[in-house]
Amino acid sequence: MIKDEIIKLITERRARVGVIGLGYVGLPLLIEFARNGFDSTGFEVDETKATEINDGRSYIGDVSSSAVKELTATERLRATTNFDHLKDCDAIIICVPTPLRKTKEPDVSYILAAAEEIKRNLRRGQVIVLESTTYPGTTDEVLLTMFEETGMKLDTDFLLAFSPERVDPGNPQFQTHNIPKVVGGCTDSSTEAAAHLYSQIVKEVFAVSSARVAEAAKLLENTFRAVNIGMANEMARLCYALNIDTWEVIRAAATKPFGFMAFYPGPGIGGHCIPLDPHYLSWKARQHGFDSRFIGLAEEVNSRMPEHVVQLVADGLNDDRKPLKGSRVLLLGVAYKKDVNDVRESPALSIIDLLRRKGALVSYHDPFVAELRFDDAHTQDSNEPLQSIPMTDEELRASDCIVIVTDHTQINYKRVTELAPLIVDTRNALGGELRRVSKARVIRL
Ligand SMILES: NC(=O)c1ccc[n+]([C@@H]2O[C@H](COP(=O)([O-])OP(=O)(O)OC[C@H]3O[C@@H](n4cnc5c(N)ncnc54)[C@H](O)[C@@H]3O)[C@@H](O)[C@H]2O)c1
Repeated sequence: MIKDEIIKLITERRARVGVIGLGYVGLPLLIEFARNGFDSTGFEVDETKATEINDGRSYIGDVSSSAVKELTATERLRATTNFDHLKDCDAIIICVPTPLRKTKEPDVSYILAAAEEIKRNLRRGQVIVLESTTYPGTTDEVLLTMFEETGMKLDTDFLLAFSPERVDPGNPQFQTHNIPKVVGGCTDSSTEAAAHLYSQIVKEVFAVSSARVAEAAKLLENTFRAVNIGMANEMARLCYALNIDTWEVIRAAATKPFGFMAFYPGPGIGGHCIPLDPHYLSWKARQHGFDSRFIGLAEEVNSRMPEHVVQLVADGLNDDRKPLKGSRVLLLGVAYKKDVNDVRESPALSIIDLLRRKGALVSYHDPFVAELRFDDAHTQDSNEPLQSIPMTDEELRASDCIVIVTDHTQINYKRVTELAPLIVDTRNALGGELRRVSKARVIRL
């Protein structure tokens, strides 16, 4: 049986692994297979990335260049733009982007492009796994149909499964090898083979009964976050109106040892997952005449947070008898979360756009993001790119307001509280003591 052949190849470390898409998800995964003794090939459309890997350099924060160099030197790791080599792989994993169209509908064109290449190179004895986050049904409605058009048959010739990626960029505690992996195949044999493959590189594999369950589980995880962050954001706005300290309220509620899980407010949600993935679920629900109201409500609340942040800046400046127009506003951090360089969907883009439209003179400092472009941002105006400026004493003193949008660890917040006149802290980056001794007036979300 094909399943037994693949499992044997994997057990004996003779299976050759191919990962399509070497981004935040694909590169760490590829490294993990190479590190565990598998012949590993990364497939990229971006030639620069393939060259970087082959030259032993990493462009992803969570992967060190020394790890890439060490593995390319053993010749177990390589990257290529030539998809003909997919034929040489026994296991193929797809990790390409799954964005939204402007209409907020799923854009699975990257998955389709990767699947076309697999279809062209499909041969007997391969196990294929989709990792890109997508709506339930993609693996067996879209991929399986495409692959069977070759005349080859599932279970007889190839195996197919879905296994969602859960990587959390910038998290030093949980990385690919110690995050449990959910696996669901289009058939039991597919589940078994894919689960066996992942069990070589991760500590815990949780097999489910179908690819659809695995696809839906991923969307539940991210929708759960979006909805709960929405709740925390609503609470923050409510507390601001009632003049109650949101953070203290959450800290107090979190002392309950059961039935409560702390989520925190912020300037809005960002990254490639939380703002996008729930739309994959609501889109699929709509196809079946179901209106997923929690998702819509969370999106509405979360997407309004940048406006609220700008309101806090305006309120703070107003108390200093200053209008937003002509005021110097310095953003600290523009990445969508702390200690990463990813600005995709970052709320900083909307905050800057809103501030500029009100006539504020906006600049930013982010040790991870040298330049901020607005090409793909959902902003109203096509803004000029901005460059990160050094956080000098003069800049801090000359700013009318500092907005902490991202709480990067390496920023010296004490210095900020000593030199700036006004700080809007959207992340509770200034701990209680810092706030108490702050010379700056601090407004918290
Ligand atoms: N970034 C995260 O934190 C995260 C976490 C969990 C799940 N995911 C999901 O994983 C998937 C990948 O996300 P990512 O953050 O790694 O994206 P990414 O943009 O960092 O990387 C995707 C890579 O795929 C390449 N690519 C695009 N089309 C290709 C093709 N046809 N063939 C080969 N390469 C191609 C791109 O050049 C890019 O390097 C998405 O579905 C995302 O929702 C991401």
